[in-house]
Amino acid sequence: MKVASHQLRCTQCSAGIAPEAAAADFRCPLCGGLYEVIYPWSSTADQTSTRTPGTVMPDVRLPNASALRWLWQERRTSTMAVDQSGVWRFRDLLPILANPENPVTLREGNTPLYDLPRSAKALGLDFLLAKHQGIGNPTGSFKDTGMTAALSVAFERGFEWVACASTGNTSAAMAAYAARAGLRSIVLIPEGKIAWGKLSQSMDYGAITLQLRTDFDGCVRILNELIRRLPIYLLNSVNPYRAEGQKTPAFELVEQLEAQVPEHIVVPGGNLANGAALGKGFREMLHLGLIPRIPKISVIQAEGANPLIRSFMENGGETLIPVTADTRASAIRIGSPASFRKAVQTIRSTGGWTAQVSEQEIALAKAEIGAEGIGCEPASAATLAGLKKLVASGHITSEERVVLILTGHTLKDPEYTIDYHRGSLLREVELASATPAQLHLHANLRKPPAVLDADTDAVLRTMESVLQTPIPA
Ligand code: F0G
Repeated sequence: MKVASHQLRCTQCSAGIAPEAAAADFRCPLCGGLYEVIYPWSSTADQTSTRTPGTVMPDVRLPNASALRWLWQERRTSTMAVDQSGVWRFRDLLPILANPENPVTLREGNTPLYDLPRSAKALGLDFLLAKHQGIGNPTGSFKDTGMTAALSVAFERGFEWVACASTGNTSAAMAAYAARAGLRSIVLIPEGKIAWGKLSQSMDYGAITLQLRTDFDGCVRILNELIRRLPIYLLNSVNPYRAEGQKTPAFELVEQLEAQVPEHIVVPGGNLANGAALGKGFREMLHLGLIPRIPKISVIQAEGANPLIRSFMENGGETLIPVTADTRASAIRIGSPASFRKAVQTIRSTGGWTAQVSEQEIALAKAEIGAEGIGCEPASAATLAGLKKLVASGHITSEERVVLILTGHTLKDPEYTIDYHRGSLLREVELASATPAQLHLHANLRKPPAVLDADTDAVLRTMESVLQTPIPA
């Protein structure tokens, strides 16, 4: 009898299944739910309703917390790629590969944790940090951490083709890792609704890039047809191995905070997988005694792409109410999120919140993060915009420690930034909803480029006129 390092467990009906037995769309055949990876030491292993015939999970021996901490630090000094990776350095808690020393890695993870002093002051918070998943990750977004994990599984299982539907970052990450592994990749993206930085990446890394005349949700429909017909490995976030990589920033964060646990984590929500993945990471750390409690995980959506918020408002999060999504934060332009249930479970079990933010609020928050010298893509800035709402409503208080997850690099979507500063991004009706204070901030933050003759005096005059404007405190 084979001894399995892990099993898949349906997050809805708790049915267990052997990893190789999962359907190509990673849906539970009994209830249509999504899987999560469980290990013999997982807290949920006991609740799994059916054990998989032909496999046994070995006896439970909990990994030792102090030994893990020591090992993870020790690996930092290694020159091996598998140790330098901010995902595989934690491989003891994601034993998903038969050959764990040889993943498909681009030394992902190891992302910086910045403080945001000006935003903290403006919000009256003592402690506000941003974990920037767009910096340090090889393709400039948090998707790399999940992709190294799931693509390594695809490679080990001998797939020739991998595929995803994407708003741009998953496709960039998949294309890069597939190229590294020598696999063929195909990306389905909504035509005209993807940032140029991301589109250019999938071409650069050699993927077959198909822009379909539909939205993200339409791309997912076609992809599901495709994987039914051909042996293509699906790398969307319904793939449970993606979450195994995407949980590791939680480990990294706790290390960076010297074992402190913040009270709040705030993520932007699109297909709704990321908050749940981080929640899994924190849950596992708690279970293994690496942390004493779990932070609240809150999810922020754009007003125009708010199925999670609508579902909470209309039925307490019991059933998904899909929407026709529209937001300039194209990464989260998703109306029917696959991981809706996982996200609801995460928010409920951690005591987190949801908030929705307008286009104007996202643009302002992005400019504020840029003005702190950090920058991020629009979807990431939804976190700061949402945090303002959660502080205003009293859900987050001044002494609580907050970490925003900035998911993508500012260079992913330079067109958005340029349009904002040139004043052509927001329509009048969108600005009409801004408060006087917000309008004042917009005016201070906007730095449109000036076109001048090649004349020193003209440059000096411009500098002088700028000196009249105070730098934001
Ligand atoms: N932020 C960025 C920059 C993203 O690219 C995404 C998702 C999210 C936030 C939302 O994360 O889906 O886990 O809730 N992008 C996907 C993609 C959908 O195809 O790149 P989520």
